[in-house]
Amino acid sequence: MVTLVRPENMERITTPALAKAFIEEQLAALREQIGDKKVLLALSGGVDSSVVAALLIKAVGKQLTCVHVNHGLLRKGEPEQVIEVFRNQMDANLIYVDAVDRFLDKLAGVDDPETKRKIIGAEFIEVFAEEARKLDGVTFLAQGTIWPDILESEAGIKAHHNAGGLPADLNFELVEPVRILFKDEVRVVGKELGLPDGMVYRQPFPGPGLGVRCVGAITRDRLEAVRESDAILREEFAKNGLEGKVWQYFTIVPDFKTTGVKDGKRSFEWPVVLRAVNTRDAMSATVEEIPFALLQHITERITHEVKGVNRVLYDLTPKPVGTIEWE
Ligand code: XMP
Repeated sequence: MVTLVRPENMERITTPALAKAFIEEQLAALREQIGDKKVLLALSGGVDSSVVAALLIKAVGKQLTCVHVNHGLLRKGEPEQVIEVFRNQMDANLIYVDAVDRFLDKLAGVDDPETKRKIIGAEFIEVFAEEARKLDGVTFLAQGTIWPDILESEAGIKAHHNAGGLPADLNFELVEPVRILFKDEVRVVGKELGLPDGMVYRQPFPGPGLGVRCVGAITRDRLEAVRESDAILREEFAKNGLEGKVWQYFTIVPDFKTTGVKDGKRSFEWPVVLRAVNTRDAMSATVEEIPFALLQHITERITHEVKGVNRVLYDLTPKPVGTIEWE
């Protein structure tokens, strides 16, 4: 039986034992729903799709095909981690699509944030649909829909982005094994399924990825500056006990340059903006008080290690009045 609505009296999944019971229940339900048919899943490497993949691998093994689209806007090391965990460790059918050039060529010269988002969303569907058409006999499409997605779409807050969008000829039946769970429960289930902590406790990451942090028209060199500075920030937060404590933290690279001095010579390069915020529901947010010495150390590293950067700033703006992302 596939449960479509969260039962009102359902106990919040907070312990390994409760996660285990949920997993057993879902494995039986998935096997019953899917039978000997084939399932397709867009696997971003985020918590929800990773947990769905791990459940389906356990339930139906090679009847599942995962498609991981690298749109060039992922964080450093993410595509490699998806391949390592799902193909190498879990032995899943994983199709890795290097679509970096396609996305970046489409985005070249586009500076309007909403147009950027639309291009990224539409291109993603296009790439995924192309991969889906290459496969024969797929009946089901698995999705990492969670309970807040359902509640928010019912309340008219946001369109249920998971379900929509695929062309009409791709007429799949949906498989949504975590649809009655809240995010914290998905994490407990993911941990019980043996997914690495780096995946289970990931901070939220927007669908358009680093694209909204490379402000204005995306260029490859500035995108690399975003990716490299983000990797340094994450490394330093992990080393200094801030990982898991701060809700979301990342870097932004604006599309202007400022004057500096490097190796005794004038430099004209980009600034990197650091952002670190805490929130409950992302509707409002406060700024994390990062120790000054750590800010100085991160500045030192970014200005010396990231190509094209000569200045670092810390964004002190709460939401409101600023949004969390810069675009
Ligand atoms: P803002 O910038 O609106 O962000 O304060 C609130 C939260 O939503 C994330 N975010 C997005 N997530 N697609 C997503 O999937 C998007 O286009 C998008 N824009 C913002 C943001 O990272 C923050 O967690």
